[in-house]
Amino acid sequence: MTDPQTNEATPAAAAWSPAQYAHFSDFRGRPFRELVARVDAVHPEVVVDLGCGPGELTLTLAQRWPEARVVGVDSSAEMLESARATDAAGRVEWVQASAEGWDPTEVSGSVDVLVTNATLQWVPSHLRLIPSWVSALAPGGTFAMQVPANFDAPSHRLMREVAARHLRADDLAPGLDRAIGTALPETYAALLLEVAAEVDVWQTTYLQVLQPPADGTHPVLDWVKGTGLRPVLGVLTDAAERDAFVTDYAAEIEKAYPRRPFGVLFPFTRTFAVARTTGP
Ligand SMILES: C[S@@+](CC[C@H](N)C(=O)[O-])C[C@H]1O[C@@H](n2cnc3c(N)ncnc32)[C@H](O)[C@@H]1O
Repeated sequence: MTDPQTNEATPAAAAWSPAQYAHFSDFRGRPFRELVARVDAVHPEVVVDLGCGPGELTLTLAQRWPEARVVGVDSSAEMLESARATDAAGRVEWVQASAEGWDPTEVSGSVDVLVTNATLQWVPSHLRLIPSWVSALAPGGTFAMQVPANFDAPSHRLMREVAARHLRADDLAPGLDRAIGTALPETYAALLLEVAAEVDVWQTTYLQVLQPPADGTHPVLDWVKGTGLRPVLGVLTDAAERDAFVTDYAAEIEKAYPRRPFGVLFPFTRTFAVARTTGP
């Protein structure tokens, strides 16, 4: 597979699993709700959820704005299949496209609200793309994004360390490097202030208390299997190589995030940005 912008080979990553991703849907849904709570559009005509994933959160946009045309865009066929199954009434238009290749001007009618939640960390060129998306919004339109800011947290640092001492270290590095893909809050603020009239950027650290799943897997390992560990799992298709990685990483995770009677504390920092363009 090649990067649509650079034509360079993109590192392998395991396919998105809607079922695995759903394990912590309450925790993953809260930042989305807090993001869209800061969008004050009243009667948007066109609303886009870029990187819509399994679609439950996109459907909340359709409930909030029942008159709006709502479009969910995602590059994963698996996620879109799950989204279509969730949307029995066919309320949302589900579109398979990569953020890198998606052209907002191809959505008939200008986009009034563009939401992208927990997705741009997978889009290395997003700092280049954001200004063009915001500039293409309808007058008075809103861009709302949220990305993790936890790439220095033990969960990710240990992933890189375990990868660096694995037999396949050279093959694992590109995918993990690609995943270290978010900027400082002030970078997003400066970028958005160039193209929008009002900009609000903030960070929140959620002190999440995770419970282990029924099979006893460490919950932080279970969490990253649904997201950040995919570039590793995509490379390590050989069972023995994969087991060696997971055993080593799981032991490190047990030390870094001890199990306690109440569960496992998993702090998670996220960066939010909401920008509104000049009104009509
Ligand atoms: C962590 S999930 C977030 C899903 C949803 N927005 C949510 O908040 O639950 C990231 C989503 O981004 C999608 N994605 C990753 N890279 C993408 C890209 N380059 N273009 C479009 N979607 C992408 C994945 O398929 C996945 O559904």
